[in-house]
Amino acid sequence: MVKIAPSILSADFARLGQEIQRVKSADWLHVDVMDGMFVSNISIGVPVVKSLRKATDMFLDVHLMIEKPVRYIDAFAQAGADLLSVHLEADMPPGIRAALEAMDRQGIKKGIVLRPITAAEAVLPYIEEVDLILVMTVEPGFGGQKFMADQLPKIAAIRRYIEMYHPACHLEVDGGVDPVTARQVIQAGADVLVAGSAVYGAPDAEEAIRVLRGQ
Ligand code: DX5
Ligand code: ZN
Repeated sequence: MVKIAPSILSADFARLGQEIQRVKSADWLHVDVMDGMFVSNISIGVPVVKSLRKATDMFLDVHLMIEKPVRYIDAFAQAGADLLSVHLEADMPPGIRAALEAMDRQGIKKGIVLRPITAAEAVLPYIEEVDLILVMTVEPGFGGQKFMADQLPKIAAIRRYIEMYHPACHLEVDGGVDPVTARQVIQAGADVLVAGSAVYGAPDAEEAIRVLRGQ
């Protein structure tokens, strides 16, 4: 069954404790960290992850949209992240490797992320060692954008690589996921769906999660 990871970027930050209670039936909680450099927006950082960790037992899936993320791996891991994902575009390959090694030392799960412009083949040097590959289906930076259907062949290509090289690796999709596009990305091979506005914008978040799961 697919996992649903509501993105708290679309939640009301002034009521974050209640907002995470609204999505208790989800599998993971997706946390978008933005530095105003790798993406133009600025969102949340280490202290918020630390507070979330005290407030919930949910799996914290932390998406780092920051330049040279190796600088912050230890801090986010110690704050309580269960998985950190780093953008392949955010550093040169040695920096990405160093970030993954830091995650190993911290004993947390490791993810890599691709912007829409980045080709499927970019995952190949890392695929055997990562726990998750995240394909962006919008330009990272903001919630509520339109799903980019031209990313579907890339999702399918990465699913084929995963079956070949590392079947246990998760394939997550983030951006514009709604009840219609959810079916398309699952069909293409995704097994973890991030959803911000489709969950937090719904009157009944639990019902929205069920619909995304296809139940
Ligand atoms: C965008 C973030 C997403 C965002 C998704 O940069 O990575 O996680 O919250 O929001 P929706 O589901 O509204 O596109
Ligand atoms: Zn995200």
